[in-house]
Parts: sequence; structure tokens; C-alpha cells
Amino acid sequence: MSDLVSRDQAKERLDKLRQEIVYHEKKYYRDNDPQISDYEYDQLVKELEALEADHPELITPESPTQRVGEQPIEGFTTVEHRLPMLSLDNCYSPEELTDFQDRIRKLIPDEPLRYVVELKIDGLGISIFYREGKFAQAITRGDGQRGDDVTHNVKTIKSLPLTIAELSEVEVRGEIYMPFLSFQHLNQERQDREEAPFANPRNAAAGSIRLLDPKEVAKRRLDALLYSTYIAGAETESQWENLQTLNQLGFKTNAWNRRCENLEEVTALYTELLQKRDELEYDVDGVVIKVDSTAQQHSLGHTAKFPRWAISLKFPARQATTRINDILIQVGRTGALTPVAVLEPVKLSGITISRSTLHNEEEIRRKDIRIGDTVLIERSGDVIPKVVSAMKEKRTGGEVEFVFPSHCPICGTQVFKPEEEVVSRCVNSSCPAVVRESLLHFASRRAMNIEGLGEALIDQLFNEGQIREIADLYNLELEKLETLERMGQKSSQNLLDEIEKSRQRNLPRLIFALGIRHVGERTAQVLAARFKEMEVLSQASIEELVEVEDVGPIVAQSLVFFFQQPKNQELIQKLRDAGLNFSLKREESTEEQTLAGKTFVLTGTLSGLTREEARSRIEAQGGKVTTSLSAKTDYLIMGEDPGSKLQKAQNMGTEVLTEEEFLQLISS
Ligand code: IVH
Repeated sequence: MSDLVSRDQAKERLDKLRQEIVYHEKKYYRDNDPQISDYEYDQLVKELEALEADHPELITPESPTQRVGEQPIEGFTTVEHRLPMLSLDNCYSPEELTDFQDRIRKLIPDEPLRYVVELKIDGLGISIFYREGKFAQAITRGDGQRGDDVTHNVKTIKSLPLTIAELSEVEVRGEIYMPFLSFQHLNQERQDREEAPFANPRNAAAGSIRLLDPKEVAKRRLDALLYSTYIAGAETESQWENLQTLNQLGFKTNAWNRRCENLEEVTALYTELLQKRDELEYDVDGVVIKVDSTAQQHSLGHTAKFPRWAISLKFPARQATTRINDILIQVGRTGALTPVAVLEPVKLSGITISRSTLHNEEEIRRKDIRIGDTVLIERSGDVIPKVVSAMKEKRTGGEVEFVFPSHCPICGTQVFKPEEEVVSRCVNSSCPAVVRESLLHFASRRAMNIEGLGEALIDQLFNEGQIREIADLYNLELEKLETLERMGQKSSQNLLDEIEKSRQRNLPRLIFALGIRHVGERTAQVLAARFKEMEVLSQASIEELVEVEDVGPIVAQSLVFFFQQPKNQELIQKLRDAGLNFSLKREESTEEQTLAGKTFVLTGTLSGLTREEARSRIEAQGGKVTTSLSAKTDYLIMGEDPGSKLQKAQNMGTEVLTEEEFLQLISS
């Protein structure tokens, strides 16, 4: 009997918890308007997980804990679309819209026409079915007729509801995409692990949705914006109404969607969105213009490929042509030799570009890129531009093929390139370039965060013989520092204070800072959590290492190899003698948590520090940075050219800080 009571109570609490979690997920992921802190949210989820563990019979597929399946799937099955997923006719200038309208006018001459304009997100098309109000099936666009069943992966996207109020069959269609922030995180991590980065957010999203392990997909932080819905037996009268229905059902639609009365309004909106494009949190390649009325859409119908009632107006590509003046070789901290194109400086959507990586020898050969070539460069998704292709028709005969060096350009050691790899490396661990880059990495913000120790200073310290290796940082002397160019007493003392602080940085940072191949920030965190002491980690065997989540044989071998090298053992001993924090237990934040519980939003361009720096300073003092304003926002930090957030903050009565006031706040 008592069992029954407790089960009933459990059921009641479960329902309540699930409702609350679903509500907060909607507010956070769909509306960008969090109502509680991440901590409070995590507590709710933990309580739900614990209750479900005690009562596994009460788990339902729609519980928020069930977004991510435990087991990898075997593969994808192909499914036929209910109606084909058509693609869109393209045009490239607002003037061409008149042709589009003329074609429509021929078919429906006298009726009033209205349009809906939507951003064209650069992601992948998806069709999702809800049956009896429950998330049932998600299918990729595929070839338009058939796509792959990726239900398990799409279910991990938190802005998509697992249940909706409508009980008849509902299909929704939209775009799955990877926001810039997630994309940058992912590529950073891949670079740390020496995996090839994704070329743009669209490729990253496409690669992610085809992973077999939903747990991995969940980490990729994909998102979805919907643009149409079909409810059995309840057709909407217009595209605009259709978008409202999506919202009412609980889906995320794009905040920039607008209804326009005529082509002038469409063009004005296009111009506005083109200007806004660099501020968006995701990649777009244009706008989609749709005839609003559903009845008119039906009259217009479609060709084999496109609907006649819609067209996409593309934004101009962020491309430019310029000349390759030279190709240089950079030696990274792992000894990797990377060819870099030195470009004739050229402006590309507001940024002057003068360098671009060519990745490796094979890439140069494959694209047949030569010194002196006129090349097409492109910025997509990321801020880092790439060389798309050489314009061979522009060759004059004076172009020079690049010969990849057989020896390190810095120390002269013969380079080594294993058969199966594309990267050549300098294997001399004392190579000045390798040491310099290792030091830069060690001091970098994500590692030991030694503020002020940048490239210029490191070069000076090297040239003056004040440092030869990482450990020398901890023996720098004030009097000697003062002798360096542009280093007065104050800046020298500041640097020593910063270095002093780094002795207390936590173990995950120290492990990451060592620059062990394939060990990125996240792996460093997992390793610290598992081994707790540098001593224990450095003694761990391959067998012990591969048991750790996220650590495969390559990472394990790399760790064992690193700790076996006498030079590295020496380095670690010296760092220990210098009093660095070698244990997770001894860990304590050196920063006072003066901003604990405070939430910040940034707008505009800061002049003295980057957004990332601002974020890390806030987080170091216990504060939080979110992307959008809400009732929970304590401060809006306003840089130059503030966006619409400033107006919103003033309307909401949120405290607005100038950059100066912000700097005062964090140093007080
Ligand atoms: S409407 C029949 N609206 O673009 C209507 N498509 O080239 C066809 N896309 O496969 C799609 N944003 O993946 C539509 N607001 C939007 C869109 C959009 C992105 C993608 C979609 C489609 C492709 C068509």
C-alpha cells in the first residue's frame, strides 16, 4: 500500500517537474528569454533524473530526459516525403523581383497580392512529424522526394517541443542550423584535437545530423527554425497565419519574418536585412519571398522543381579577388608546418584581409595555387577567409609554383611526414618556433590566462635570453623586465603579478596549457576530474586512460608519449617546484566572486577588449553573459554602434554601462 502511495506521489511530482522543465526550456531555447538561472534549471533536471531512476516504469518517451538516446543507432533508413520538399528558384537583385511578380500576374491578373519575407537560413531542410501530439519522426530533405530518418538526432534539439497540444497529425518543415557560437566552439575543439575543422556552419550541421550517436549530436548544440506547418484537415489561409500557428504550437520561427504589402516593402526589408546580416547569430544566404495567400499559392502551383509562388533573393557572396604575393610557412606548437598565403590586402564585408591559410601541401597542389596567382577568396560563416580557387585564366606565365620545404624554415631540422598524414612537422622540440608557440598557448586565455603576455613580449623575452622554455616564466625578475622596450616598472610588475596569479590556476587549465597533442579543453577537464592529481595522470597507462569518457586510443597514446619524454618530465618537475597547482583538491578561485548571480548582455563594439575577453572577465568573477535581454538581465554593456538592444534595455529599465563603467565595475 505504502508503495502505491509513494508511486502516486512520485507520479504527481514527475508531472509537475516535467511541466516546469518544458516551460523553462521553451523560455530559454525558443524565446531567448530565460526565467531562471542555469543552476536552478539543472537542479530541476537532476531531481527529475533521480525520480525517474527510482521509478523507471514512469519514464515516457516525451520526458525531457529522453531527448538523448543512450545507444548509438545502426544507420539511417530512407523515407518517402508526404509531399516533395521542393527547392527554390533564385534571383540575385531586387530588380529581378519584378519578373517574379510579372510571372505571377500572368496567372492571377487581378487579385491583390501580398508577400511574406523570411530569412533564408543556411542550414539543412527538415520535415518533422508529430502524431497524437508527440514528436514522432524527423526526415532530412534528401533529394526532395526521399530523405533519411534522423529522428533520434533531431530530438536532441532543445528548441523543438517533444509534445504539442494538437492531436491530429502535424507536419512541420524548417531549417536545422548551427549557430555561429556553437560552430566556433566545435571547430576550436576540433583544432585542439587536431581534427580537420568544418568549413562552415552548414557543413558542421550536416555532419552533425548524420552522426550515429545522439549523445554526440546533443553536444553539437544545433538549433531549428520552422517555416511551415501542415495540420491534417486544417489548412491555414496564408503563410503569415501559418507562421503564427507554428508559434502557437510551440515552435521557434524567425523573429525577422515580415508581411509586406508590395515589392517596395520587400526591397526595403531586403536592404535592411542585408545590413543586419553580420549581426545575426547564424549564417543566412538571402531572403525568401512567398506569396502570402494559400489560395493563390494553390492557383500558382509549382514546376517540377520550384513552387511558382516563392523565390529566394540571394545576398551577394562575401567574396573578393586578390593576388597571392607570397606563400610563407608557419611552424605551430606541434611543429606542424602550415603554408600561409600573403595576399594583396583587400576589403571583404568590412574587414581588410591580408593573409589566409592554405592548410597544407596537398591543398596547394589540389587547387593548383601558385605565387603570383589571382585568387578568389571567400568568407563564409567564420571570420577567417579562405582561398576558394586560383583564376587560371588570369595567369601571365610569371606565376611560381610553391615548393614545400624539406627542412624547418626556423631551425633547419629535416621535416617529417608520416605516409598516412597530410601535415609535415618539425620534430625538434627545442625548435624556437615550437617553443614560442607553446609559450603563447600556455599563456593564452583558455589556458593559464596570463594577461599581457602576448606575441610581442614573448619575442622580446626570447631575444633577450630571459626565457628559453615555459618554466623560465616563473623565474623572471623585475629589474631585467624593466630593461625591455616599452616595459616600465608598472607594466613589469603587472606582468609578474599576472604570472603569480597563474600559479593558482586550476588543474584542467594546467593540463590543457601543456599543449599535449589531441588534448583540448574538454579532454583536459575530463582528465582532471578523473585523475585529480598531475602525478596520477602522468603515471596513467593506456588501459586506464581509454576508460575515461571521450578518451580514445589516439589521445591515450599521445598522453603516455608526452609524459614519457624526459624533457617533459623535467618541465613538469620545474612547474611543480614553481608552486603551480597540481591538484584538483587544492583548487580555489583566486578571483573574488563579486559578480555572482549577475547577468550581462553585450551590444556594439568594445574598444579596449574583445567580447571574449569581456566574457571571461565576467565569468571569472562569477557573473554570466547571455545573448539576449530579458527581465533577468542586470546590466547591458554598451560599446560603439550599439544595436537595437540599447533601446530595448532602456524600455525595460535595465542598467546600461559604458565600457569605462564596466571596467570600473570589474576592477572594484
Ligand atoms: S521554403 C516550397 N523558406 O532553402 C518552399 N526554404 O532552396 C521551399 N530554406 O530546402 C522552401 N530558409 O532548406 C523556405 N524561410 C525559408 C527557408 C528555406 C531556408 C531552405 C530549405 C529549402 C531550400 C530551398
